[in-house]
Amino acid sequence: MLQDKRILLILTGGIAAYKGLDLIRRLRERGATVTPVLTRAAEQFVTPLSVSALAGHKVYRDLFDLTDEAEMGHIQLSRSADLIVVAPATADIMAKMAQGRADDLASTLLLATDTPVMIAPAMNVRMWDHPATQRNLTQLRADGVTVVGPNDGDMACGEYGPGRMSEPLEIVAEVEVHFGPRPLTGKHVLVTSGPTHEPIDPVRYIANRSSGAQGTALARALLDLGAQVTFVTGPADVPPPAGAQVVPVETALQMRDAVGAALPADAAVFAAAVADWRVASASDRKLKKTRDGMPALTFAENPDILAHVAQMTEGRPPLVVGFAAETNDVIANATAKRARKQCDWIVANDVSPDTGIMGGSENAVTLISEQDAESWPRMSKDDVARQLAQRIADALT
Ligand code: CTP
Repeated sequence: MLQDKRILLILTGGIAAYKGLDLIRRLRERGATVTPVLTRAAEQFVTPLSVSALAGHKVYRDLFDLTDEAEMGHIQLSRSADLIVVAPATADIMAKMAQGRADDLASTLLLATDTPVMIAPAMNVRMWDHPATQRNLTQLRADGVTVVGPNDGDMACGEYGPGRMSEPLEIVAEVEVHFGPRPLTGKHVLVTSGPTHEPIDPVRYIANRSSGAQGTALARALLDLGAQVTFVTGPADVPPPAGAQVVPVETALQMRDAVGAALPADAAVFAAAVADWRVASASDRKLKKTRDGMPALTFAENPDILAHVAQMTEGRPPLVVGFAAETNDVIANATAKRARKQCDWIVANDVSPDTGIMGGSENAVTLISEQDAESWPRMSKDDVARQLAQRIADALT
């Protein structure tokens, strides 16, 4: 329930602004007070009168409205809320937020605030997929902004794909999670993530295709549930989550040492794709082409960090979770892997190239424990992360 929660709702200009009207109703039904802000463009889609009537509150529209400034300055307005929700959030407001621009009331409020911000993007699929928007999205996430949706579907412009704003009830559900219980408060969770890079010489290395997306999403979901998170990450494609204690590493040996230094923990989740081998003969000088033929690389096995932590006799985290990236016999291989490494759970996923999972935004996992194997439907890596974080919370509390 959202009793007495103060929400500053910024509507920006998109056809989805009409859903913003329903969002106001849904938030108020649950006891929240909603202070609405409309951009100029939003006024092309919904009227200030309908917004203020539904909100039961004055609508703020203009940065230079002296009456508004006399009643409540924009700085105070931006800080007098428990949460700022931008719904719909256009590509334009996302760009402004990512760059820290402040050229109208909405963008100024967003820059002037220290209140948590949640956005529900809504735009044409090409605009959503554009590298500029994706760049802005990555930046906003790194800045600690919660992103809800967008969903796939038919769009007002006649195209199909991601870009449709989440439904008002989906946004309300996220708002409720934001204000909900934080069962992992006081718990320390260690997460490893990303690939490792194993040097061949100072300019070359052996790597793998892990983007770090699943581990990052998991760390974010654990933070949302109140955990203190130590995030030991190899060189990933995605930025680490805001709010975690980030320990960047490059090699498996560095990751092992960072994990050792981060213990004790109440739970440890090993989402990193650690290289099984490193180059034993790594050179401290760049290898040169010679007439004598190609260099022969010899390998040494890397320590298995997960197995080591799972088998600690003293100071073992009460819950140790591994991931199993498999391309065939996924459940059988992962079940055997869990028993071999002696972790409590293993999250098995099929990383065959045709699944598009490695480096993609979705995952289809099976959660394997000593007792059973539970297959989850294919869903976004964010949703896998949220469900797994909730399971971890259930196990620890
Ligand atoms: N892992 C680890 N340290 C390693 C290798 C793997 O901590 N040196 C962890 C990974 O983070 C993951 C789990 O072990 O949680 C499984 O990794 P995976 O590479 O799928 O399994 P392997 O142990 O390499 O087994 P195989 O090569 O037989 O697939």
